[in-house]
Amino acid sequence: MRIVLGVSGGIAAYKAVEVCRRLVDAGHHVTPVLTEAARRFVGAATFSALASDPVPEGIWEPFEGRIAHTGLGRAADLVVVAPATADLLARYAAGMADDLLTATLLATGAPVVVCPAMHTEMWEHPAVAENLATLRRRGVRVVPPESGRLAGGDEGTGRMAEPGTIVAAVLAVLDASSGEARRGDLSGRRVVVSAGGTREAIDPVRVITNRSSGKQGHAVAEAAADRGAKVTLVTASALPAPSGVDTVRVESAAEMEAAIDAAARDADVVVMAAAVADFRPKAASDQKVHGVPELVLEPTPDILAGLAARRRPGQVLVGFAAETEDAVGRAGRKLERKGVDLLVVNDVSAPGVGFEHDTNEVTILGSDGGRINVPLGSKRLVADAVLDAVAARLRGGSTAGADTETGDTGESR
Ligand code: CTP
Repeated sequence: MRIVLGVSGGIAAYKAVEVCRRLVDAGHHVTPVLTEAARRFVGAATFSALASDPVPEGIWEPFEGRIAHTGLGRAADLVVVAPATADLLARYAAGMADDLLTATLLATGAPVVVCPAMHTEMWEHPAVAENLATLRRRGVRVVPPESGRLAGGDEGTGRMAEPGTIVAAVLAVLDASSGEARRGDLSGRRVVVSAGGTREAIDPVRVITNRSSGKQGHAVAEAAADRGAKVTLVTASALPAPSGVDTVRVESAAEMEAAIDAAARDADVVVMAAAVADFRPKAASDQKVHGVPELVLEPTPDILAGLAARRRPGQVLVGFAAETEDAVGRAGRKLERKGVDLLVVNDVSAPGVGFEHDTNEVTILGSDGGRINVPLGSKRLVADAVLDAVAARLRGGSTAGADTETGDTGESR
């Protein structure tokens, strides 16, 4: 998510450096905007070194080719001001736009969080209280100051909240607003999802399978249902069926192919998160094999390639790829070979990523050349990032304008 971190001129500006670092660490794109007074407390170079963008010069300088005074606010998913001085709150409440920070606050439609910091006398002044009440009425979130040591050795209320408190508030607001934006965006859509590792029988007792847990596919199915889609989940995993999802249990690649083909006929979206076994015994024995069987293997049907060959107009196809080397390069070629719209690739050799982890880090490649990096996080968050890309495709948009970073994420299949 794109966050503008506004910093106004108070001693707590030094704590904003930590807020900046933590938001960047959480995977967000942070642009710091400093007032003239803030620059007297902490140099722009400090923020430029830690943030995703250098500190923009000011209201008169273009930023990333856009007009800075409106461009930053328009592009932001959230604006947080820490510290927010009495002067900044007054200018914001009055609707002034006399510097880049106040202009950004006026131009944005994104949620705004302010973190006041000032001396106790100022904090208790009715002018400040009224300005805050005005801003609250307009929907601005306030992270109140705490009591403790203030500049000049004074004690009292007015000390800016700690960076951890501010970051938690920002992440909570972002979560709530992205949930809001996603709610119902797939309503009326039919989505088919496959999950789990297929099991290919050797005999009635033994199977060939893989390490896939099915958690990522189940998370995609659940997220799609939460976003209003009518979902069919074809799963080879023993995980419980997500609520509100029509779940079909299968075991082998052949069973999965039959179930997927039937469900995909009138689907708007098919997400192949399953780790389909690439090969199977040519003939399974009816009876338990005693001793070491001599296995003759054959390839399984490529379900995804079959779907791509028969796809109906407008249908969005999503493949998954677990790679161990040159993940993005190989995946780019796989995307073309399989004829899919989106390919979700994870490098299962990376730390914290892979079948045996509960976290995942993926890159979503689009057939339009778009590329979205989803940093390490929960499978549900990866699922929502995948569905964001799907929803953009259904709307006729591109995967991503350029290389993009999303918020948190999920694991491997
Ligand atoms: N897949 C499929 N049918 C198969 C094998 C794979 O539909 N028989 C789907 C998977 O569900 C996944 C995608 O294809 O969405 C990529 O799977 P992968 O096994 O990585 O692709 P392969 O074509 O087997 O490529 P590789 O050369 O890496 O083995």
